[in-house]
Amino acid sequence: MAETDTAPGGKVKSIVVLASGNGSNLQAIIDAIDSGEINARISALITNNPDAYALKRARKQGVPSVLIKPMGFGSRKEYDDALLEVLTRMDPDLIVLAGYMLLLGERIVRKFKGRIINIHPALLPSFKGTHGIRDAFEYGVKITGVTVHFVDEGMDTGEIIAQEAVAVLDDDTLEALEERIHKVEHKLYPHIIAELLDGKLERKGK
Ligand code: GRF
Repeated sequence: MAETDTAPGGKVKSIVVLASGNGSNLQAIIDAIDSGEINARISALITNNPDAYALKRARKQGVPSVLIKPMGFGSRKEYDDALLEVLTRMDPDLIVLAGYMLLLGERIVRKFKGRIINIHPALLPSFKGTHGIRDAFEYGVKITGVTVHFVDEGMDTGEIIAQEAVAVLDDDTLEALEERIHKVEHKLYPHIIAELLDGKLERKGK
């Protein structure tokens, strides 16, 4: 694992965040580092999307960013090679997917198994995929929520680390539900990241 900055009391651990969009979870992680809830530094934001608002957030906070555009490569393998190379060089303690819209290649997942986590805005294994909040809302469930899980080779299939339920109200709108889910995400994700980095959570297997 990476040994980065030294600080009183030990090594500061390193996180790499992968995000494709708004980056509100990235922001929550940055804020949790600033407040001392997470004892780590973000060594980089990696994105596939040059227009991601997450990039602006990273720049504003002085977090280095790396843009790896799949379109810039001849094949999926070459893209995976590039991403694997960057991650291997950084060798972070934790790879945090926060709205990263691409599946990680198998070699990356294998190499960093147990060190890659994702957040999903529904109670897995229900409502996998890119529209978890909307799909749950349209299905008419009364309870949905947020899941944090380890990443495996599948989509939203890895071992669950934590879940928090969010009730769907009788007069809910999709927008109101989205807002409440994101609020839960922004507390739960930093909390779980802090616990993982502090060694307080164990992998139990599925
Ligand atoms: C979050 O809802 C997360 O659960 C999902 O993608 C969304 C990312 O939002 N995987 P943001 O970019 O962090 O604002």
